[in-house]
Amino acid sequence: MTEAIKAGRALELRPLCLRDARALFALVDSNRSRLRHWLPWPDTNLTVLDSRAYILHVRAQTRLGAALPFGLWWKGSLVGVVGFVWIDPANRSAAIGYWLAQEVEGHGLMTAAVSALARHGFHTLQLNRIEIRAGVRNRRSRAIPERLGFRHEGTLRQAERLADRYVDHAVYGMLAEEWRP
Ligand SMILES: CC(C)(COP(=O)(O)OP(=O)(O)OC[C@H]1O[C@@H](n2cnc3c(N)ncnc32)[C@H](O)[C@@H]1OP(=O)(O)O)[C@@H](O)C(=O)NCCC(=O)NCCS
Repeated sequence: MTEAIKAGRALELRPLCLRDARALFALVDSNRSRLRHWLPWPDTNLTVLDSRAYILHVRAQTRLGAALPFGLWWKGSLVGVVGFVWIDPANRSAAIGYWLAQEVEGHGLMTAAVSALARHGFHTLQLNRIEIRAGVRNRRSRAIPERLGFRHEGTLRQAERLADRYVDHAVYGMLAEEWRP
């Protein structure tokens, strides 16, 4: 089983487990309207049972080696989710996704978490390429790969359907040979 990843003095990525379902649901519920603006799933996560089902699903994906999501814990509280949303073992390639509670935005937590996750990806999982996609107008999300030195590789037009619109994605990539921890 995957172990926790340290990302700072009080910041840790821990594999999601069923006992996190209540805390995870509370976090989604209190951030629902802003998450909905950039992510497709908040409207289908409406009860603690939905959060349990999500955790069971991602644990199954983790066992298959197809994804690797973590709860992000800061000072002992769950503050978001970050992880590899897909892993392509044949090409040693993976994509990172993330979201954070509004109350803890602006402290550099997600940048530190993504940096620690990328290090884990390149060093432990032996990945060759890590990708991050963000809505072209999602300034906060785009700033994370930019801060970490990912290369902006292009734009995928209308790549994602959200509740009220299609969103273009800015694609960022980092290769193992470019990664400077
Ligand atoms: C995307 C998201 C995770 C970014 O959160 P964030 O708090 O801006 O990112 P970080 O935690 O890395 O913090 C960066 C901020 O902390 C500041 N900061 C403070 N100390 C810092 C440090 N040591 N290192 C880096 N940044 C630091 C940065 O200046 C920046 O603030 P600014 O934008 O006001 O300049 C968050 O906005 C979110 O969850 N949004 C909704 C869901 C979403 O869009 N998910 C992504 C879908 S692609």
